[in-house]
Amino acid sequence: MKVKIVGTGRCVPSNVVTNDMLSTFLDTSDQWIYSRTGIKQRYISTGESNSQLCIEAAKKALKNANLNGKDIDLIIVATITPDKVTPATACLVQSAIGASSAMAFDISAACSGFVYGINIASQFINSKAYNNALIIGGEVLSKILDWQDRSICVLFGDGAGAAILSRSEEDCIKSIECVSVGEKSDCLTCDGLELKNIYVPHQEEFSNNISMNGKEIFRFAVRVIENSIERILNENNLTFDDIDYVIPHQANSRIIEAVIKAKGYDKEKFYMNMSQYGNTSAASIPIALDELNKNGLLKEGMKLILIGFGGGLTYGSALINWKK
Ligand code: COA
Repeated sequence: MKVKIVGTGRCVPSNVVTNDMLSTFLDTSDQWIYSRTGIKQRYISTGESNSQLCIEAAKKALKNANLNGKDIDLIIVATITPDKVTPATACLVQSAIGASSAMAFDISAACSGFVYGINIASQFINSKAYNNALIIGGEVLSKILDWQDRSICVLFGDGAGAAILSRSEEDCIKSIECVSVGEKSDCLTCDGLELKNIYVPHQEEFSNNISMNGKEIFRFAVRVIENSIERILNENNLTFDDIDYVIPHQANSRIIEAVIKAKGYDKEKFYMNMSQYGNTSAASIPIALDELNKNGLLKEGMKLILIGFGGGLTYGSALINWKK
């Protein structure tokens, strides 16, 4: 599609929580967490809301793109932890950046949300309905974790990442595919609002924390990464040598290492930063993309593969020809 990424930004809460800090109140250890997941620390909100993180990431992306809020005509926030049921987080971002004529809405595709957002926005830009879109993955997952459950709460972190998409002369976003596998919805769940009305009393047991089948998701994720890379290489007549970076969702380094081992891929090409952030769901890919961009690691013409996977179950992948 004739769409390119022209700016990126990220924002995380100020509070860093190391594995050792978790082991002060959970029966866990830095050794267990790091060896099973590659995670060393994560950022956990002590007051920053999802919309605040998204707004800050959006402002940085605008600056990086040399645009201002008025230039943005589409805002999509991918999140499963919005501040409010309504308004959408995207509307709060819209107001804060002054994108007064934008269409703004949230999408719920868990850890695939950012790639889903890129897909939706690219269709609008490619069809010339809109010129500049702001896509944000933002989460405050710490709101939906059981902090007594060592098998879940050690994995996740809070944060937001943003990217701005604009029209391009060349096809810079290629082979984008987003798939949902609803029959596997039980693998990763978090209940929404309680059914509570004059006919149904409050349920004492009601909880809305994440629960998941870790082993099943692990296998799903390995398969998704392997198949997505092969599909993109085949569709574009490329070999893995032509790819500069793969930016997978940052759930667990062992998932990525399993792919590298099975396929013999060059490990250096897989960008990994979960050691610092943990799994930030929809935010993980745009945070990683922004790190690559701001560290000067992206050069014009580079080929990047983005791969998201997670609750739904959902997955999504795309080939990006980097051209700012
Ligand atoms: N610290 C110490 N021990 C822990 C622990 C923790 N934080 N969490 C679990 N354990 C224990 C378990 O209780 C279990 O003990 P047991 O053998 O006495 O019952 C043991 O460690 C092994 O647990 P298991 O669940 O088999 O570990 P695992 O090797 O499968 O790793 C995950 C668990 C969750 C790290 C792994 O399955 C995973 O990463 N899956 C993908 C999940 C994911 O990424 N979800 C989000 C997708 S978007």
